[in-house]
Amino acid sequence: MRSKLIISFVIVVIITGSIATIVGVHLIGEGVFKQAQEKVRTDLNSAREIYQREENDIKTVVRLTAERFYIKDALIRNDLPRLNSEIATVREREGLDILNLTDNNGRVIVRSRNSAIIGDDQTYSPILKKTLLEKETFSGTEIISKEELTKSSPALAEQAYFEIIPIPHAKPTTKTEETSGMVIKAAASVVDYNGNLLGVLYGGNLINRNYKIVDKIKETVFQGQVYKGKDIGTATIFQDELRISTNVTTKEGERAVGTRIANDVGEQVLVKGKPWIERAFVVKEWRITAYEPIKDIKGAIIGILYVGILEDNFVDMKNETIWFLLSITIIGVIIALVVAYFLAGSITNPIKHLAAASQQLAKGDFNQKVSVTSKDEIGELGNAFNFMISSIKERDEKLKQHTQQVVVRSERLAMIGQLAAGVAHEINNPLAGLRTYVKLINKEISDLGIPEGSFPKYLSLMERETIRCSEVVRNLLNFARQTDARPQLVDMNHILNEALSFIEHQIIMLDIKVEKNFGTLPQAVADFSQLQQVFMNIILNACEAMTTKGHLSLSTSYLESDNQIEIKIQDTGSGIPPEILPRIFEPFFTTKKKGTGLGLSVAYGIISQHKGTIDVNSTVGVGTTFIIKLPVQATLPKPDNHDAERLIT
Ligand SMILES: Nc1ncnc2c1ncn2[C@@H]1O[C@H](COP(=O)(O)OP(=O)(O)OP(=O)(O)O)[C@@H](O)[C@H]1O
Ligand SMILES: [Mg+2]
Repeated sequence: MRSKLIISFVIVVIITGSIATIVGVHLIGEGVFKQAQEKVRTDLNSAREIYQREENDIKTVVRLTAERFYIKDALIRNDLPRLNSEIATVREREGLDILNLTDNNGRVIVRSRNSAIIGDDQTYSPILKKTLLEKETFSGTEIISKEELTKSSPALAEQAYFEIIPIPHAKPTTKTEETSGMVIKAAASVVDYNGNLLGVLYGGNLINRNYKIVDKIKETVFQGQVYKGKDIGTATIFQDELRISTNVTTKEGERAVGTRIANDVGEQVLVKGKPWIERAFVVKEWRITAYEPIKDIKGAIIGILYVGILEDNFVDMKNETIWFLLSITIIGVIIALVVAYFLAGSITNPIKHLAAASQQLAKGDFNQKVSVTSKDEIGELGNAFNFMISSIKERDEKLKQHTQQVVVRSERLAMIGQLAAGVAHEINNPLAGLRTYVKLINKEISDLGIPEGSFPKYLSLMERETIRCSEVVRNLLNFARQTDARPQLVDMNHILNEALSFIEHQIIMLDIKVEKNFGTLPQAVADFSQLQQVFMNIILNACEAMTTKGHLSLSTSYLESDNQIEIKIQDTGSGIPPEILPRIFEPFFTTKKKGTGLGLSVAYGIISQHKGTIDVNSTVGVGTTFIIKLPVQATLPKPDNHDAERLIT
């Protein structure tokens, strides 16, 4: 029972603990990743700012240079050497990859890094075209072909070139190389003092293999933080789906330029033109990422700006939380075990004591008592048990006393019976002699001619008393079960009626009301006249106890389970005082002036001979009930030639 209690307790704790852990882990995991996504979203904003600033810087340089009067003057004067040297100086000073000048038709007149190639048309460039038309300064990102790059400088074309490196999760492609480049470009109009367009100055920086922007993002946004040897934050610029500038590294630790974007991300950003803010597989690991499209001045998607943070520290954080919650559950289970152990003990120990005490009780040890320590149901059970034991003990003692009394009584009666029988035997012969002698005297007197009976009355008194003595002796022998029974099939109700009819006269005289309650009885084997005598003796006693206007009730019933007949004779007489109750079956015990005290002793003797029992309940002032139980088939002793019977006739 104890283990059952403990197991159920622990199961409840494990279930609730596990549910709490699962829910907690889920919520916390979700929360952590949401927070990470939020962070990466703002990081992308910062990255865009940095990208924008780079573009603005170029724009400012180009605009300010275009506004310089010596550029205007040299252009008005068509002083190409001057223009060439001025523009080349600015380009070098500002660290621009490209800085060229066109005429007002968009044809190159100054190419700072390759002055030999001029006169080509640059109006293919949307930025330049817009500047020519609107005479303002414009900037943006543009894809520039290998040819165009080569014109500016073969080194740029080389810098832009990528052999595409295959990586997992990228969209399959047949493309093996990228020859064009992505350039952040600005173009500013050069106007004369009257506002007439003289030409357009355009410049820019190639992003391919130029890590300035991405490293600035890494430094500014992520402060170059490292987790377990890996950069927490990374940034990339894609030209279409190709990484052209990044600080994401390959397994070998090199910048992963030349690799392509994961298929699903590319689909979302390049095709659908929507930002991607969630987990993504970046080159070699999962990161929490943010991607957004880079558009050219016309709004066409030409690339992607990406920032991503390492997932590892969030995963570790999540795992730590799981472990934390798990340990709480485990500690909870241990505490539950300890609590359940003691709690179960406090329930099962008293029950164990009860069980042990009950076993002892079953073995007959009534001195058991359980200690009651609590006031709950178990305490009540203990109290009830103690009460039950004391009641059983009390009843057991009463029962013992009663049986002892019965045994003592029957032993005493048996002793008295032996004594009485002995005395009766001894007296029988002299009595028989006496009666013979009285008869002889009477005969001799009559022989003398003196008529019988007229002789002095002493002789007849002598004879009467002798007969009375014989009667007493017969009764004594009856009590001592020394007379023989004559067993026959009898109807107990009939015997009772017969006994009653003998005393009818007395009953009428005393105005006693008789009530009969006879049940249907089987025929029993018994001595008719002996039982008739028993019932007569008891009914007589009842009548004598009631004197007048009493109520006598006779009832019989068949006790099927014991195969016995029960006869009850009840009166409303004086009752028997408790102090004489144990003695009423003794021969010669009487409380009556003219009683011999043999009535009940004879009844006792006869009932015992019939293997029956006789009991009495009596309350002084209320009445007395005699209860006789007789077996239906008594095995009565066979008649033999006992001298008592012979002598008393
Ligand atoms: N129904 C009864 N009510 C009250 N007392 C009774 C009743 N039956 C018996 N007794 C008491 O038991 C005593 C013994 O009864 P028992 O029949 O043996 O002798 P007795 O009636 O006194 O004399 P006997 O029957 O020989 O004339 C009686 O003297 C009486 O005190
Ligand atoms: Mg009597």
